Amino acid sequence: MKVLVIGGGAREHALCRSLSQDPAVTELHCAPGNAGIAQVATVHPVDQLDGAQVLALSQRLAADLVVVGPEAPLVAGVADPLRAAGIPVFGPSAEAAQLEGSKAFAKDVMAAAGVPTARSYVCTTPAEAAEALDAFGAPYVVKDDGLAAGKGVVVTSDRAEALAHAASCDRVVIEEYLDGPEVSLFAITDGTTVVPLQPAQDFKRALDGDEGPNTGGMGAYSPLPWAPEGLVAEVLENVLQPTVDELHRRGSTFSGLLYAGLALTSRGTRVIEFNARFGDPETQVVLARLRTPLAGVLLAAANGTLASLEPLRWDEGAAVTVVVAAEGYPAAPRSGDPIEGLEKAEAADGTVFVLHAGTRADEEGRVLSAGGRVLSVTGTGADLAQARDRAYAGVAEIRLDGSQHRTDIALKAARQQAES
Ligand code: AMP
Ligand code: GLY
Repeated sequence: MKVLVIGGGAREHALCRSLSQDPAVTELHCAPGNAGIAQVATVHPVDQLDGAQVLALSQRLAADLVVVGPEAPLVAGVADPLRAAGIPVFGPSAEAAQLEGSKAFAKDVMAAAGVPTARSYVCTTPAEAAEALDAFGAPYVVKDDGLAAGKGVVVTSDRAEALAHAASCDRVVIEEYLDGPEVSLFAITDGTTVVPLQPAQDFKRALDGDEGPNTGGMGAYSPLPWAPEGLVAEVLENVLQPTVDELHRRGSTFSGLLYAGLALTSRGTRVIEFNARFGDPETQVVLARLRTPLAGVLLAAANGTLASLEPLRWDEGAAVTVVVAAEGYPAAPRSGDPIEGLEKAEAADGTVFVLHAGTRADEEGRVLSAGGRVLSVTGTGADLAQARDRAYAGVAEIRLDGSQHRTDIALKAARQQAES
């Protein structure tokens, strides 16, 4: 099977790494890729937002499966011309990707499907925003309606800051604050059958102790030893399946990866957001634990044959990933710095591996930083403590001027697991 992956971040590197280990994959391509992906796949320069370019590349390579990684090409509709040309594609249509592309659309689908989420108002004027903020009270949650790479959300008790964020966006969703721990649960779907993956937890804030601004995600781990038994089944029944069914009913069939960002509140599980693609960095830890070869699973979703897929097999152990970000991330990341220690950071037995997010190779083949999140160092082990130690041992080998990472990824969960 010839597989083409669209994108060039750590999520796509994780996808490519798993696909490269799948014996069914005879050729692996990625566009545009990055310096790390180039080690496991043939990379091609392409404007990933340009459907015609992606289609031309897929046809030239005679790809048997195209996997679209990031939200921007999905929302731009890159999957549509592929599907129209009869190429199996993993990733939803532009219409279905509105589940991520518009928070207002997602709220409408959830209301119709009876999916539990925060109460909310869509506001377009400062007066509407002020009224909505006062209706819910502090802490305030203000979300840019459109795509914002995980950075369009402000959660604050400062009313002036909340109003200022609302004023800086064309259209905002203002919603009630959800307390309780967050869980990311991914499901693979062909538009009717829904196959949940293992849950993970992401660390969204930039700094230790969940301080600082929201980011795309600074680290993740899986499994969640503290999660209630039956969580996955509950979310499948009350969130994932009804959402997929509602989109199908509307004629906007969702095929690809449905990502539910959940809050386990004192009043029950609530959806914080949907995404239309694999999460980053959660994918790094979820795929590290998936034992079923990946290509067949993605192809079954693309071809509408998920119902006949064997149950997924999972590693009983744990995985932890720590994001190494550039100085100044998320506000103004610096780039172009050389990265050293990449090989030393990896373990020969594969228990620690480095996935590239924002990197590129210069003419001499040196690896340079080229984005806010630069690397994602992943450790696996028998339990979270071991996986965590390995991931941080890897991080300690990386040399990148001014780089930053959180030191508390999976710390609490590893302690709880050790105690129980
Ligand atoms: P989103 O882009 O919608 O996932 O929001 C990013 C982050 O903001 C989430 O992971 C939460 O940590 C936080 N957040 C979003 N919505 C809420 C909410 N209603 N209540 C509390 N925190 C929220
Ligand atoms: N880790 C959060 C996201 O992928 O949106």
